[in-house]
Amino acid sequence: MPSYPPTRSALCFGGDYNPEQWSSDVWRADVALMREARVNLVTVGVFSWARLAPRPDRYEFGWLDEIMDLLAEHGIGVDLATATASPPPWFSEKYPESLPVDRDGRRLWYGSRQAYCPSSPAYREAALDLVSRLADRYGQHPALVLWHVNNEYGCHVARCYCDQSAAAFREWLRARHGDLDALNEAWGTGFWSQSYGDWSQILPPRATPTTNNPGQELDFRRFSSDALLELFRAEREVLHHVTPGVPVTTNLMAGLTSAFDYWRWAPELDLVSNDHYILAADPHSEIGLAFASDLTRGLAGGSWLLMEHSTSAVNWQPRNAAKAPGQLLRNSLGHVARGSDGALFFQWRASRAGAEKWHSAMLPHAGTDTKVWREIRSLGEVLHRLGEVAGSTVDADVALLLDYPSGWAQEAAAQPSVDMDCFAEIRRWHAALWRAGITADLAHPSADLTRYRAVLVPSLYLVSDADATNLKSYVDKGGTVLVGAYSGIVDECDRVRLGGYPGAFTDLLGVVIEEFFPLLEGECVALSDGGTGTVWTEAGRATTATVLVSHADPPVAGSPAVTRNAFGAGTAWYCGTRLAEPDLARLLHDVCERAGVEPVLAGAGAVDPRLEAVRRRHPDGTTYLFLINHAGHAVHVPATGTDLTTGDDVGAGVTIPAGGVAVLRNDVGKEE
Ligand code: GAL
Repeated sequence: MPSYPPTRSALCFGGDYNPEQWSSDVWRADVALMREARVNLVTVGVFSWARLAPRPDRYEFGWLDEIMDLLAEHGIGVDLATATASPPPWFSEKYPESLPVDRDGRRLWYGSRQAYCPSSPAYREAALDLVSRLADRYGQHPALVLWHVNNEYGCHVARCYCDQSAAAFREWLRARHGDLDALNEAWGTGFWSQSYGDWSQILPPRATPTTNNPGQELDFRRFSSDALLELFRAEREVLHHVTPGVPVTTNLMAGLTSAFDYWRWAPELDLVSNDHYILAADPHSEIGLAFASDLTRGLAGGSWLLMEHSTSAVNWQPRNAAKAPGQLLRNSLGHVARGSDGALFFQWRASRAGAEKWHSAMLPHAGTDTKVWREIRSLGEVLHRLGEVAGSTVDADVALLLDYPSGWAQEAAAQPSVDMDCFAEIRRWHAALWRAGITADLAHPSADLTRYRAVLVPSLYLVSDADATNLKSYVDKGGTVLVGAYSGIVDECDRVRLGGYPGAFTDLLGVVIEEFFPLLEGECVALSDGGTGTVWTEAGRATTATVLVSHADPPVAGSPAVTRNAFGAGTAWYCGTRLAEPDLARLLHDVCERAGVEPVLAGAGAVDPRLEAVRRRHPDGTTYLFLINHAGHAVHVPATGTDLTTGDDVGAGVTIPAGGVAVLRNDVGKEE
């Protein structure tokens, strides 16, 4: 029976198990096949509310008792869901005010899922009642290893604009700002005659004639993330009270959505778990996958668990490409390489009916004589052999800073350029590092940065004084930082920092910018080193920095584009435009090289750019080099160790076939 956190001897393998979609005669076949595939953890009951409580005040737990017993008998652990992700129709009919309302005032009906307002007292009360019944009934059950609260909070309803949300928003604002004077000051309501004289006048930023107040928008996004987090906390408290020894998680969507401040969420979870689905239209979906994993690892501050991904096609993209043979293994190991202590899927058995009947599963409609089932069995085998990897950490010398409210503030209307997308720019820098073979952690600007050789700040429009000081003191003590354009511009209320841009960082970077010159769609400009700037230019000068590259084109010709400044014992680089891909790659290479950051396969010679290499490490020094070949040809890697996927000793390097994988273990002191 697996436990959580996993011991050094097991990775988790399994997926969402929805037995309520099937008659009980299928259940025994299910567990037998789970055993065959080496499944050791399933998530049960995510959407079972209507089955558990078919009518108000009527509960039916018998079927779940049977499932839990069956799984325990077969040694399969249960990540038991609290079933609060989708209230049943009777609930919505009884409490219509619990249905969410969008920005335009449209009420969203039941008939799909997640149809509840996060601030609805009726929903909260009913959810907590269900949770405490489940905790009382199954808290001591031998199959229970983990609690799974709700499901992908906010995946469909990230923000609700109803009157109940308005009331909760006001309470949240009182706690944040104290009094109305402070709120008016924070939001700059002196502009456009928006001053509030009474709390009752404050609303969510509903549809208005033109641009809403940006401070109000930003606070509403913070509130909306917190409102869902508060629901999680309330369920978790019930579970901790009844079953103090059982860890509690909820599945995040880091890398798929930026709608929630997951830096505030992660510390509240006993175990950080994440869901990830690749985008079929993305020719380099392995890089998007790596981003999600690196972000989740940053959130977790260590290892984490991949709660959902897909065995093949999903059903919610415009064209749902199936996975090519071998892709399933590459995708699953891609997450494990970057810190996941297992690989779980949505879902165990493909549905016969309902909105997700065309979504792949571990057991497809066509049964066991299939590509997917064979690949699932061999994945189960590989994960079994990799069991000792569990609990190890991932080597990363670089941090990429990401702050959600900063991105939200930048997403508000009436900005200098719609092309200055914060989250896309962070991904672009991450992708350039991926291509350079450098592993990066995503980190919050307030994090302890001292263990990183370089800190990259692609886009940090909004920064608090404390976070700006954190970055400066990291550099002052010898660190290296590279800051991207349009960072350090506003305070945490989205008020411009006066006296020249980038206000919070002018001294750190040794530059002062006086005016922005955003480019038109598709426009490019020439730089003094032959490189190309896109999206953004600006006019300004260096104060103490050395100008390495300047603008060559008017109207900003001569203004700095790339600079380097000595600050205390460290170095602060600045890039005041969005460099074209090759130029960005070159700049990141220079910054990393000077800071002593090496690619994972440093010294291995020219290795194929589509060969992904990541190293995990146990505190005793044992390392695991994950090699994932995304290229259409074999790649030779001059590394040594024992390939845990085959058990072979690799003496003179390893050749990874097209689309293949290897995981090389090196014991203490034997690092290649
Ligand atoms: C997730 C969700 C699952 C399932 C899956 C399909 O967002 O948690 O319940 O819908 O997507 O890809």
